[in-house]
Parts: sequence; structure tokens; C-alpha cells
Amino acid sequence: MIRIGSLALVIGAVLSSPVSAQSELVERGDYLVNGILTCGNCHTPKGPSGEIRDKAFSGGTSWDQPPFKVTASNITQDKETGIGNYTDAELKQLLRKGVKRNGARVAMIMPSGFYEIMTDRDLDAVIAYLRTIKPIRNAVPEPVYKMAQEHPVPPGGESPYTEAVLSDKVQQGFYLVTIAHCMECHTPMGPQGREFATSMGAGGGKFTGPWGVSVSRNISSSKTKGIGGWTDDEIKRAITQGVSKDGSKLNPPMGFHYYATVSAADLDAIVAYLRTVPPKE
Ligand code: HEC
Ligand code: HEC
Repeated sequence: MIRIGSLALVIGAVLSSPVSAQSELVERGDYLVNGILTCGNCHTPKGPSGEIRDKAFSGGTSWDQPPFKVTASNITQDKETGIGNYTDAELKQLLRKGVKRNGARVAMIMPSGFYEIMTDRDLDAVIAYLRTIKPIRNAVPEPVYKMAQEHPVPPGGESPYTEAVLSDKVQQGFYLVTIAHCMECHTPMGPQGREFATSMGAGGGKFTGPWGVSVSRNISSSKTKGIGGWTDDEIKRAITQGVSKDGSKLNPPMGFHYYATVSAADLDAIVAYLRTVPPKE
């Protein structure tokens, strides 16, 4: 009895030790960063046959657009060319508010406005995971800002969610779709920015890359133009395998190779939320 009792005590102590709490946080961060958050979709360099995995997070895609000419930063732990010198507080400020360590506003292609909603726990988890990324030395070109960078925040995503709000399935789905910045790609751009209020999920964004040109599709609940007439399984297959309802293959930058690891419960929540997006014809 005594021996069993003390063994249980020892196990209890191990389970609640700071070390295992930390490794749970890292695991959660790994799940988010390499899944729904698709950080590597921008921050990992790409070669002719896709992402260069052994250089993961060492600096990625470049954009030259009217508001900026930038390259996705090296976010490995290298102190000189990566983010090894950022403190946790500075990283939080960058991720949620879009302000860099040197005080500059990050280019608005970095979806920081979509991370304002991130729960404190998930933000801690992302940072805990980033700390485990091995340093890779790779200096990316300095950013050029051609105008003041804004920090657009999607409606409903203005402040951090609590774990309690996430117990509602549709709210959980909204949370996941927001941090995944799905609607940033799937909502048309108007003169005042993304038209979330009037055209949420209507599609129309153009993306050019080695795949040619892809145009984001209507993912509102419209039965004829959107995904309102699709089954749950068809929606999940499009998200996680990149296969449309008619069986055709989808192109990047739709992040299906990242979404492949999204859990069944999270996928259910995403579908539950997408069903509530008003139809756009
Ligand atoms: C759509 C592309 C895109 C996605 C997705 C993205 N980023 Fe970025 N990120 C960028 C670009 C581009 C920059 C550089 C902007 C600049 O220099 O102003 C950047 C900058 C950063 C910086 C600032 C580093 C520095 O140079 O000071 C950090 C940290 C960062 N991203 C982390 C992340 C993390 C973590 C994720 C996932 C949660 C993520 N990013 C998702 C494009 C992206
Ligand atoms: C970086 C931009 C980007 C992000 C982020 C993104 N998508 Fe997409 N998505 C696209 C593009 C572009 C296509 C069309 C690809 C093609 O035509 O080959 C697409 C296609 C789709 C389709 C297929 C629709 C059809 O008619 O076949 C669905 C469903 C979808 N996305 C849902 C989502 C969801 C849900 C998320 C977030 C978890 C998401 N997307 C995030 C760009 C994006």
C-alpha cells in the first residue's frame, strides 16, 4: 500500500512538473505553427520541388507590391539573422500588434492582425515552439516600406479569446478560421481594405507563383457559388487534401499540406463555422 501510494505521488509530481507543462506547451505550439497557422508557408524557403525542409523557417517568400517590398523574415533562433534576440514580450508584441523589436510596423502581409484574437495560452505555445527551432544563419534583404503599414484586424477578432469562449463549437471554428487567416485570402480587397463586412468569404484574391495563377474561391455558404451545397466530408477533403468537390486538384498558396495535420475536432469546428458565413453570390 505504502509503496503504491508513494509511486502514485511520484507519478503525480512528474505529471504536474514544470518540465512537462513546458513540453505540452511546445507540443501545442508545434501543432499550431506547423498546422493551422501555416507560418512556414511564408517563412520557409521554397525550391523547385516545394519547401526546403532542412532550412525551415530561415526566411521565405518575397513580395514586391505597391505597399512594400519584403521577404518573410528568418524566424529561427539565430541571434544575428533570426529572432534569437527577441524577448518573449517582444515576440508577443510582434505577433499580436505587428510591431517589430526595432519599433517598426511589420509589413501588413504578415497576418499579425489575425493573431489579436489568439488566446494567451496559444500565444505562449507558439513562442515556446519558436524557441525550439534550431538557429540557421541566413540574412534576408531589408524590408522596403513604400507607405505606412496598417494592421488590419478582422471583425470579431479585436481581443484575445478566452478558453471559455472556445467551448462553443462555432466560436471555436471562428477562432481557428481567424488565426489561420483563411478569410484574408478568401475575401476580396476593396479600396478600404478587405471587404469583410460585405463580402466575407466571396473569394477573388489572385496569387501568382510557380504553379501559375490561382484565384481564391467562394467559401461562403452560397449553395451555387460557395460551399453551401457541399457535404462536411467534401469541405474537409478540400481543406486537408487540396481536392475540390469535383475531384480537381487545388493549387497553392491554399495551405492544405499544412492543414493535413489539423485534428478531427478542429476540422468539425471549422466546418460548423463556415456553414454560418452568409451566402455570397
Ligand atoms: C502570409 C505570409 C506570412 C505568414 C502566414 C506569417 N508571416 Fe511572419 N512575416 C511575414 C513577412 C513578409 C515578414 C517580414 C515583414 C517585414 O519585414 O516588415 C514577417 C515577419 C515576421 C516576424 C518578425 C521578424 C523580424 O524580422 O523582426 C516574426 C517573428 C514572424 N513573422 C513570425 C511569424 C509566425 C510565428 C507566423 C505564424 C504564426 C508567421 N510569421 C506567419 C510573412 C508571414
Ligand atoms: C494564402 C491564401 C489562402 C489561405 C490562408 C487559405 N486559402 Fe483556401 N484557397 C486559396 C486559393 C488560392 C484557393 C483556390 C486554389 C485553386 O484554385 O487551385 C483556395 C481554395 C479553397 C477551397 C476550395 C474551394 C473550391 O471551390 O474548390 C476551400 C474549401 C478553402 N480554400 C478553404 C479554406 C479554409 C477553411 C482556410 C483556412 C483554414 C483557407 N482556405 C485558407 C487560398 C487560401
